[in-house]
Amino acid sequence: MIAGRRVHFGFPAAARRRCARIAAPLTLLALAACDTPTSMLAGAGRDAVLVERLFWIMLSAAALIWVLVNGIAFYAARTEANPERERVARLFVVWCGMIVPTVVLVALLVGGMLLLRDMRGPRPDFQVTIDGEQYWWRVGYDTPAGRVVTANEIRLPAGRTVGLALASTGVIHSFWAPALGGKMDLIPGRTNRMTLTPLEPGRWGGNCAEFCGTAHAQMRFEVEVMPAPDFDRWLAAEAASARVASDAGLAVFTSAGCGACHAVRGTGNAGTTGPDLTHLASRRTMAAGILPLDRDTLAAWIRDPAALKPGALMPAFPDLKDDAMQPLLDFLTGLK
Ligand code: CUA
Repeated sequence: MIAGRRVHFGFPAAARRRCARIAAPLTLLALAACDTPTSMLAGAGRDAVLVERLFWIMLSAAALIWVLVNGIAFYAARTEANPERERVARLFVVWCGMIVPTVVLVALLVGGMLLLRDMRGPRPDFQVTIDGEQYWWRVGYDTPAGRVVTANEIRLPAGRTVGLALASTGVIHSFWAPALGGKMDLIPGRTNRMTLTPLEPGRWGGNCAEFCGTAHAQMRFEVEVMPAPDFDRWLAAEAASARVASDAGLAVFTSAGCGACHAVRGTGNAGTTGPDLTHLASRRTMAAGILPLDRDTLAAWIRDPAALKPGALMPAFPDLKDDAMQPLLDFLTGLK
């Protein structure tokens, strides 16, 4: 805009309208994806910034080499051969075909190894355990007040380095929050370790990056990076026992056998197969980041989990009558 007049760069009006019609839904899609960015180019963690820098260096070098090679090929195709040029061409093959590529590849190798050393990073300030389940993430923190276990939403303090201990009991998964750092496999029978140093508060998306079964593509997670004091307050609150908003709902939960798989600390339900629900209602999403956590979704999930997420291992409770479901939902949505 210049002095209230639009600048259109000479495109005809019909073309501009067509572009706008295509761009509008695409922009909406892009904005929806911005809710929890999953791009390594978002660069919100120390390691991601290192990887992003390497990406741009390699892309620029590759583009430069591509232009040079094509330029030379174009020049060669338009030039007559003669004995003097043959001599130059042989020298050219030795230098540009052998010596320069060797130097470039060695430089890339050394650069990559230095980057790996840097990504090993500073000593972690604290530890978080991540267990890959089918198909969700068990997240554990050790606090002075006891162990906190939650699912799929990993909260971290900005500016502190966290050590992740990654394990799996069933099949191989892979933990990847591209905006924050590198990728690491979770392998049954061993514990892999990586560090993350989130730089700024915000919410970032992550995915399982190794095919692990039916719901692999629905095995998402979210990392919420908080200002450090907020994180400390959140963790202290998570360490507390569950708040029971409905005794009738707790009775349904216990009698229906939910506690065989789910723990709700302080209520005697201590199952470990499914996600810990002690502070369920403090989460934004359920079913590993694919559904909003609200009353209607919870009810539909309890009636038939596999209908919402094919491959979900939780059994269905299609026969739960409304007079049991409503107090159960009161209980679950009260677990703040
Ligand atoms: Cu877990 Cu793919």
